[in-house]
Amino acid sequence: MVAEILYDSQSRVFHISNSVMSYLIQVDGNGKILQLYFGEKICLSGNFKHLVEKSKRPMSIYETTDDEFYSYEHIKQEIPESGSSDFRIPAIKVRQSNGDYSMDLKYYSYRIFNGKNKIEKLPHSYVSVSDEACTLELKLKDAHSGLIVNLYYSVFSDRSVIARSIELVNSGKENLMIERLMPLNLDLPTSDYEIIHLSGAWGRERHIKKNSLHSGMQSFGSTRGHSSHNHNPFFILKKEKADEYNGECIGFSFVYSGDFTSCIEVDSYSTTRVQLGMNSETFCWKLKPGEHFHSPEVIITHSSKGLSDLSYTLHSFINENIINGYWKKRERPVKINSWEAFYFDFDEEKLLTFANKAKELGVELFVLDDGWFGDRSSDDKSLGDWIVNREKFPNGLDKLVSSIRSIGLGFGIWIEPEMVNPNSRLYREHPDWILKFPNKKPKLGRNQYVLNFGNIDVVNYIFDSLCEVFDKVQVDYIKWDMNRSILDSYDSELLYDEQGEVRHRYIIGVYRLYKMISQKYPKILIESCASGGGRFDLGMLYYASQTWTSDCTDAIERLKIQYGTSLAYPLSSMGAHVSVSPNHQNNRMVSLKTRIETAYFGNFGLELDPNKLSEYEKLLLREGIEFYKKNRYTFQYGRFFRLSSPFENNDTVWMVISEDRNHGIGSSYKVLNEINHSYKRIKLKGLHPEKKYRVKFSIKSPFNNLIYTGDELMKIGLSLSDASSGQHYDKIGYDQSEDFSSILFYIDVNE
Ligand code: GLA
Repeated sequence: MVAEILYDSQSRVFHISNSVMSYLIQVDGNGKILQLYFGEKICLSGNFKHLVEKSKRPMSIYETTDDEFYSYEHIKQEIPESGSSDFRIPAIKVRQSNGDYSMDLKYYSYRIFNGKNKIEKLPHSYVSVSDEACTLELKLKDAHSGLIVNLYYSVFSDRSVIARSIELVNSGKENLMIERLMPLNLDLPTSDYEIIHLSGAWGRERHIKKNSLHSGMQSFGSTRGHSSHNHNPFFILKKEKADEYNGECIGFSFVYSGDFTSCIEVDSYSTTRVQLGMNSETFCWKLKPGEHFHSPEVIITHSSKGLSDLSYTLHSFINENIINGYWKKRERPVKINSWEAFYFDFDEEKLLTFANKAKELGVELFVLDDGWFGDRSSDDKSLGDWIVNREKFPNGLDKLVSSIRSIGLGFGIWIEPEMVNPNSRLYREHPDWILKFPNKKPKLGRNQYVLNFGNIDVVNYIFDSLCEVFDKVQVDYIKWDMNRSILDSYDSELLYDEQGEVRHRYIIGVYRLYKMISQKYPKILIESCASGGGRFDLGMLYYASQTWTSDCTDAIERLKIQYGTSLAYPLSSMGAHVSVSPNHQNNRMVSLKTRIETAYFGNFGLELDPNKLSEYEKLLLREGIEFYKKNRYTFQYGRFFRLSSPFENNDTVWMVISEDRNHGIGSSYKVLNEINHSYKRIKLKGLHPEKKYRVKFSIKSPFNNLIYTGDELMKIGLSLSDASSGQHYDKIGYDQSEDFSSILFYIDVNE
């Protein structure tokens, strides 16, 4: 069913719904916007009065003198404001020039329209045709300050998704300071939820962390100037009993790449307030008379069928309503990246043999990583000098690129446009272009400073210097890196009460450059990166169709990283490369087979020097790449199912299935080998119950090449026992099993 928003003028209730979900809000007699219900689709009864529970409780403050029952402390609201009788965290705090921070927003008007609102200068969800979404705009006014607040709610056809954002307009005569702004505020009637969020650090991004809600406040976020390795701007609230395939879950994603905060407050009456938005620690915005400020968008996803369904909704939403332009739903190329093969130590000749050998393996795109510009031979110089390194490329890049093209490979290049080394021409010429506190020495991170992208001259300069490179050689792919967190966020061009704007202005500048580049070169595939996965978020995915998932390329660590990432992000967005063994990050030895079978579940690539491969390894990679290409659409856009979690088990199992459900690929990975172990059987998902499927394994197994019905595979399961379930592996037809091994299974309909 199409998305629709109905307004009942009698009860003043808005019913935002589609075939699967309902979101009910009401304007009360005092002009406040109340939250009535969010969840599975319901039929409209017309009367939801009973949902607004108010009581006269000791210690409450009344909002109106004639109603002792009317205190915001007990009312579920859409936009709780500062200085009201609600003592919980407000979603909005705007201070007037006389210091008054109490607000009194009252409903003024509404507008319902087909389609989706755009947000100027910021990434946002979108629809291809207007009847795929319906949007409600609610206008509220604060008579004392002249502040106008527009709340936006968009619902999408057949997806359990709502997009929310807030716009603030100063229609008064004095400056207003926005001190807190949460585009998401959801007041839920109970607190029997668990929170799941994706947390970690460099090299171990987006590990799944779970805990129950407790009375009081829980919060996480980023103050690093990027969404960060530490906490992803995504989390889930799930009912305590909900699991992968059952129960209610609500997902919250921020379409933003800078600082953020998420707060969950359980009050004394066991109601839960959920918020996601700007981090007040580092954000504050001066809104001058006549100006407006639009917040980034929050995406709310709902499922009553468990985490798998929630992820599926998000994956298809991201592929259809966030990722846009030429690479939307397009197959991504198999690439080879020079970083782990050479780091900074390469020249034209080395790269050409590297590319030739990669081509023989079936690679489609060659990516020249860091080290091609200025006189860059280590990470402490030349960042910012976007001119070709003449020592490494005496003939410019032209010769390399034309040779690469002549063998049939695409050409990709690494850039880190937001940064500068002190030892660079750019910094020597423009020391005032970096972010730094006045009269203090700026602090270094990875030997670099952060350029002030809030300054449009800086953005334009970087754009021009990159275009000069891109125009000379045709570029098919960009790896856009960002390798340090932001600390010195001060801009000498701004006044003392505007310094809280620096980080948001910075991110707007980053988005601006992304937009300029993708408008000039619409077919370039951009992969964002921030020391691996330090900026993996929906803001980035709007501009860059894929993200480098992590600098850790060890297949076993990647199980947790890719599994965790899949809660919120589709496989089409995750860069996954095969690197060497022992691995460069953790020295772990893992077979090439396992490394390949892990990298399949993402955007496959290589991060090694093919010259150093044995003939057997080359054969495995050639076959592997051929297999990936044949099944690439399914790997990148098929439905992904998590079957066994690396956070809970020694075995990780996952699978993808094509849209027509006729074929799929799964893989089971074992961390440590076991001895005399139990038999293993795993129930598959997403198949046609009546159809017959042939299942083939990537190891020798007595179960190889058998035919099953979908029903059988889903209800009884597929046997994934290996040699550890019996000593005589050779006699009973298994390959020998070992630590860090994998079994790929290929499922194909057998007509
Ligand atoms: C970051 C990236 C790496 C590589 C290096 C180059 O760390 O995450 O993949 O590109 O920068 O300096």
